[in-house]
Amino acid sequence: MTLPKRKFDTLVIGAGGGGLRAALQLAQADASVAVVSKVFPTRSHTVAAQGGMNAALANVSPDNWHWHMYDTVKGSDYLGDQDAIEYMCRAAAKTVIELEHAGVPFSRMENGSIYQRPFGGQSQNFGGDQAARTCAAADRTGHAILHSLYQQNIRSKTHFFDEYFAIDLVKDEEGFVLGAVVLEIETGEPLLIEARTTLLATGGAGQLFRTNTNAHINTGDGLAMALRAGVPLQDMEFFQFHPTGIAGKGMLISEAARGEGGYLVNKDGERFMERYAPHAKDLASRDVVSRSISIEVKEGRGCGPNGDYIHLKLDHLGPEVLDKRLPAISESIRTFLGVDPSKDLVPIYPTAHYTMGGIPTNKSGQVVVPVDTGEEVIPGLYAAGECACVSVHGANRLGGNSLLDIVVFGRAAGNDIIEFLKENPYHRRMSQDSVDQALSRIARWDQKGEGESVDTLRRELQTTMEEYCGVFRTEEILSEGLGKVLELEQRMSQVRLQDHSKIFNTARIEAMELENLIDIGVATVTSALARQESRGAHSRVDYPKRDDVHWMKHSLYYKENRRLDYKPVRTKPLTVESFPPKDRVY
Ligand code: FUM
Repeated sequence: MTLPKRKFDTLVIGAGGGGLRAALQLAQADASVAVVSKVFPTRSHTVAAQGGMNAALANVSPDNWHWHMYDTVKGSDYLGDQDAIEYMCRAAAKTVIELEHAGVPFSRMENGSIYQRPFGGQSQNFGGDQAARTCAAADRTGHAILHSLYQQNIRSKTHFFDEYFAIDLVKDEEGFVLGAVVLEIETGEPLLIEARTTLLATGGAGQLFRTNTNAHINTGDGLAMALRAGVPLQDMEFFQFHPTGIAGKGMLISEAARGEGGYLVNKDGERFMERYAPHAKDLASRDVVSRSISIEVKEGRGCGPNGDYIHLKLDHLGPEVLDKRLPAISESIRTFLGVDPSKDLVPIYPTAHYTMGGIPTNKSGQVVVPVDTGEEVIPGLYAAGECACVSVHGANRLGGNSLLDIVVFGRAAGNDIIEFLKENPYHRRMSQDSVDQALSRIARWDQKGEGESVDTLRRELQTTMEEYCGVFRTEEILSEGLGKVLELEQRMSQVRLQDHSKIFNTARIEAMELENLIDIGVATVTSALARQESRGAHSRVDYPKRDDVHWMKHSLYYKENRRLDYKPVRTKPLTVESFPPKDRVY
């Protein structure tokens, strides 16, 4: 059978905010762009982002991009690259206004300007009073952004392949990335999409953990495709646990709830964040708040019959704030917990939220890998959004910097691709080996298999990651966890596809998603085991201090031989002085 083929200037894999912002930039420059998405585009996980997008507009409090930069560097626990952080914070205001002009219905102040709310880790004047920097569309900001970007792409004639699953990248003999083999989910037919440039924008891997805020689709597909293509993953030990997931279930209760004045209390009704972060309190950075909640529970001050959660107090905010500023989370609380936030305390617990690590890129979105002489760009390959590690979030991302990251670097990648297309006007001949290898990944799942089900293994992976690679870590726990994930990798070779009378394409796709998750799980635990310090979201009980002498460096994990390498943090910003590491107190 001949393999059907389509040709485009650029292939974008993933239709969240990063992918769609890049696609829009390209389509508006008259490039032919294909966006492949395993779900209908407006179901991509950006739709679930609630609280908002940071930009120093100074609509509510005095603000400027330099203060935003300081907060982001401090929030990253000094592992963020300061050139990329400066670039992002400087670009933020313009990017928000562009989105406003693209139709994003931001909430408004009395005077008509964009509403901004306080979020964690934000300060005025380099660590002073709380800032209010997060531009919001009520608590459905991601929904508003994603829908506007999708509509603009339709208008600009971006070509969408909806409900296609990306299998693997294809290359030529010289290592140029030239598109991907994808699978149409409805028919199970493979398709080769040839492109002069390929952008991975597949989002994070929150489905690694049992309780998480992520959509079911967040299985790290792009990260695993990069690994299989020989690209290392950077800083995978840093996984963000959002402080306020619905207890036991994990769905997100936005930080906006605390930004609007909600706060956390333990079983004694104590506002305990005053002890852990006397200045910022409930609006300390997420790693600090998540650890504080875990400690309260561990030390017996948790709420409920089993003392295993904490309460979020919102009842004092009044119906106007709840209805106007927090309508979606009020609904989630009523639906998933059966309580009324205007009267009742809300049970919450930290939940896996965001993959800080990812595919190493520069600030133009080009994928960069270390070579003997320094770093080298992989020609034709770009990454943006949560699957990329540029690195603006370092060891801990600030709330509201994720929507910013995806649009700033999606746009930047689009611009760089336009230049690349000018310099590389012709399609190159791809290597048949590379195509065959991608196709063999599909063929492997033609057999139903006899072993355990995909679902059993996926659940076991998620509970293992939660238990052995959670908020607090030790060498012993991580070593045991790594053993368990590697054992799951072995068991995967015998896995049985879902119990249907014939092999449905969705069953094959779930199996391939699990393969991806296992690769990411191994990368995460291996990187976490190696890092013998505590920094940001990586909290090692056996190495409780940050160690700037030995560990102010990015990790790079390679699939081949599970090898780890390291590279320096870029501490030099573009135009301003560096922020040198100092004790991080809130
Ligand atoms: O809490 C939230 O609304 C999440 C925002 C973010 O992760 O940036």
